[in-house]
Amino acid sequence: MRDLTLEANLGPQRKKRTRDHADEHLPRVARPLQPFPPRSAQGRAWGSHRPKGTMTPPSLDPKGHSSLRALIARYRDRRGVAIPLLADIQRQFGYLPHDVVEEAARALDIPAAELFGVATFYSMFRLKPLGKHVIRLCRGTACHVQGSLRIAEELQRRLGVAEGDTTEDGLFTLQFVACLGCCSLAPVMMVGEDVHGRLTPEKAIKVLDGYREGKG
Ligand code: FES
Repeated sequence: MRDLTLEANLGPQRKKRTRDHADEHLPRVARPLQPFPPRSAQGRAWGSHRPKGTMTPPSLDPKGHSSLRALIARYRDRRGVAIPLLADIQRQFGYLPHDVVEEAARALDIPAAELFGVATFYSMFRLKPLGKHVIRLCRGTACHVQGSLRIAEELQRRLGVAEGDTTEDGLFTLQFVACLGCCSLAPVMMVGEDVHGRLTPEKAIKVLDGYREGKG
């Protein structure tokens, strides 16, 4: 498997097309475009002021435990339950907390590796919590041609996260996706359900400023 990170970092001097056309339509297109953390470049990244540890959800606090027990009871003595079980856990907790999956595996006598294998195979499962605002930056062909790579780099730098990650303050999750279906507005990103088109790196940052200030 080719290293897309390496290819992305080769810089503008690389004239040759480095990706298969089909790759550009995969949901998880580009991995981190530059090394992280990039925070020292221009001060602190957004979200870095948040007290450490406050984003960790109490997945197995007493309330979490009792909902997990009820959930496990539903799957006891059943076979081939990995997908519906994980889907239920994700519905309940918003993502798949490591400790919850391990606990469910223990209680149902399923190898934890099997559950994590399923969870990492299907893109519908999330092993990390989502932020309050999910940014979906289009990295499809039309947006790429119109400069979405520069926007991607700027968002990663300013948010201080890699693609797929959430800022420490839990405000933004950054995702790169394939075509959002509004190529005439390229380059495009969605923040939650809102579409923002004809972006530049500066405009994209301004859009996110609006969400940070609660005006989004
Ligand atoms: S390629 Fe970006 S919206 Fe279609």
